[in-house]
Amino acid sequence: QKLQLNLEQIEKGGYDHFMLKEIYEQPLAIKDTYRGRLLADEGIIKMAGIEDNMKRFLNADRIIIVACGTSWHAGLVAEYIFEDLARIPVEVEYASEFRYRNPVITEKDVVISISQSGETADTLAAIKLAKSKGAFVFGVCNVVGSSIARETDAGAYTHAGPEIGVASTKAFTTQITVLTLIALRLARAKGTMSSSDYRRHLHELELIPEKVTKALEADKHIQAVSQLYKDSHNMLYLGRGYNFPVALEGALKLKEISYIHAEGYPAAEMKHGPIALIDENMPVIIIATKKGHYEKVVSNIQEIKARKGKIIGIVTEGDVSVRELADHVIEVPETLENLSPLLTTIPLQLLSYHIAVMLGKNVDQPRNLAKSVTVE
Ligand code: AGP
Repeated sequence: QKLQLNLEQIEKGGYDHFMLKEIYEQPLAIKDTYRGRLLADEGIIKMAGIEDNMKRFLNADRIIIVACGTSWHAGLVAEYIFEDLARIPVEVEYASEFRYRNPVITEKDVVISISQSGETADTLAAIKLAKSKGAFVFGVCNVVGSSIARETDAGAYTHAGPEIGVASTKAFTTQITVLTLIALRLARAKGTMSSSDYRRHLHELELIPEKVTKALEADKHIQAVSQLYKDSHNMLYLGRGYNFPVALEGALKLKEISYIHAEGYPAAEMKHGPIALIDENMPVIIIATKKGHYEKVVSNIQEIKARKGKIIGIVTEGDVSVRELADHVIEVPETLENLSPLLTTIPLQLLSYHIAVMLGKNVDQPRNLAKSVTVE
């Protein structure tokens, strides 16, 4: 047993938990994801699974994304990117709902399934259903040779390396990286982006790993903020546009490992209900980066402040307006709006991690959860 323990220590590479190790692995994991695929200086994105099936993608009436949990959140981010950059209509479905809904699927649909493990029962069943209706099914998986990777017509691996912590971290950011590469490649093929905008995106994507490293430098500050909020019973996560799915993901992460109730909402929906919850006991984590509905989010922050809610703002480096209003701000480097989820996710992962550790929870193996959900 001692040997087993030592082995685990070695596997954790000096970190206290796999989750923390995996959070810190993200700069490298993202680089591994785009290595050999993203040639920014040449203005090229090379992905065999896309090139070989370009016609299917370009002739698609729509893309349907099926996934569960965190992978579903990556699908929501992809919806914004595909529609925005490649102008392809996208629907994002919970695999478990999709498979039992008698969905309308045709041969002109492209289905993208996203799964870290490649073994999620509902996602597997959803792609089998889509295939039986003649749709072309593309897989975005992390585990090489997994059931979903084998069942799909084509695909792209995330190359994130093994993810041991039950709470998904690097799988999420690498899924978004792959999906961004696909969206950019299709946008180029369709001519929906100007060449300068396309190149700007390629160069900015290449800079993301070092910006993630920069975002990780806020760790100590995030730990101090976690200390102040660890005893909360509820937390509200708000974000808008590209950062709405990040708010959902932040809330899921907190629930999973700290067992604190958390809700993610699109910031503008606050006035349609959740605002009733806000008082001095409700911490609100709000993603308010410079690009993307900034003014509107700032006005949401004012509404929260007027009701005495505690505000933790995730902001762009050097931000002044939110800093004046919020109780705490956590900075992330500036980037293009559509790449911002790759950075804003980082502080939310760290916040949930530190809170769970402070509460003495089993971070890597939270109660009632399994790494791969192979039953429905
Ligand atoms: C993420 O933190 C969760 N543990 C869970 O939601 C997970 O993302 C979901 O079960 C899907 O798993 P998959 O990506 O392996 O298909």
